[in-house]
Amino acid sequence: MLLISTLEKKITKRKNDANYRTLNSANPNLIDFSSNDYLGLSRSTKLHETIQIEYKNLVSKFPSNFLGSTGSRLLTGNTTYVEELEQQIVSFHGYEAGLLFNCGYMANVGLITAVATSSDIIIYDAHVHASTHDGVRLSRAYSYPFRHNDMNHLEHRLKHVPKRTNLFVCIESIYSIDGSIAPLEQICQLCFHYHALLIVDEAHAVGIYGADGEGLISEKKLNQYVFAQVTTFGKALGVYGAIVMGSHSLREYLINFSRPFIYTTALPLHALVAIKCAYQILPNLNKERSHLRSLITHIQTLIKTGFGSQIQFVKVKNNHEAHQLSQYLAKNGFDVRSILSPTVPRGEECLRICLHAFNTIHETNELISLLKEYK
Ligand SMILES: Cc1ncc(COP(=O)(O)O)c(C=O)c1O
Repeated sequence: MLLISTLEKKITKRKNDANYRTLNSANPNLIDFSSNDYLGLSRSTKLHETIQIEYKNLVSKFPSNFLGSTGSRLLTGNTTYVEELEQQIVSFHGYEAGLLFNCGYMANVGLITAVATSSDIIIYDAHVHASTHDGVRLSRAYSYPFRHNDMNHLEHRLKHVPKRTNLFVCIESIYSIDGSIAPLEQICQLCFHYHALLIVDEAHAVGIYGADGEGLISEKKLNQYVFAQVTTFGKALGVYGAIVMGSHSLREYLINFSRPFIYTTALPLHALVAIKCAYQILPNLNKERSHLRSLITHIQTLIKTGFGSQIQFVKVKNNHEAHQLSQYLAKNGFDVRSILSPTVPRGEECLRICLHAFNTIHETNELISLLKEYK
């Protein structure tokens, strides 16, 4: 009884602070400026048809496990299909080897907790995703944040952290909250100079950057500076799952030491087929990428706060204002969600505008006019 009343008190506090969380689905009647489906692949009939054809062809090849994978990859869940898929994905991104995880959250936690131990140091950008924070915490390594994208502070940390066995730096290439872009060349140079192992989460860059959507690390030819790259498939790729990429030794190590990889049922065949087909289609989406880029340039002439990526933000006073603004936009036909505290610190709450290849210049203009009207 005591526990229940504690839970209820905490829930009531959330309601009073206007950060009570609820489950939400996409509203098909609103114009989507909030999902991570940046290229529109999750709604693509071409992708859907390609998946159906590939899946039908495969079902007879996997008679005993075409629905579920039946176990961890260390028991019965491995197939040549998944191993070949991993190889295709790493060749596309420019790495030696890779290991699929069931989602990006598990990839970050599974990677960081496996490679960093209590005798290591992790330096991380203060704006990294919750999954990296959780990985850092669970690893029990000594950890130090550096101010977001502040290279002087990163160098200060690299110079002054106590000497331990391994030194890791965790960043994102495009930050999920405000769409800011990491100065990747400088970070790579600093990590190289101070012998730090760089971990880059490219969740929001893959699909959009690079000639064929390989991401920013590959576009800038920085792969050799990266110890491990995490990529999720639930955003621009429109499907589900994730991969950690790096060297053959890293892959072998994760198979042996990454608990979120070892102690879980492997992704089923239909999820693997979806990933494979999304990667097949990705290089053919140049028109979509180029339209998205023109939308980014356009919106930046309208709002001056954002960075040059598909995620833009508009500051609000607090959680209450964020809710009101979001509701006002919904009433006018637009789906734009807010980032509330405690996901971000109090005072940094914002409305997050996600641009997509299926959004138009006209819709973007209308959305910004509504925002200006409201203000
Ligand atoms: C930067 C970043 N990394 C990792 C994740 C987790 O990925 P997934 O949704 O595949 O678990 C997210 C998702 O919100 C993210 O934004």
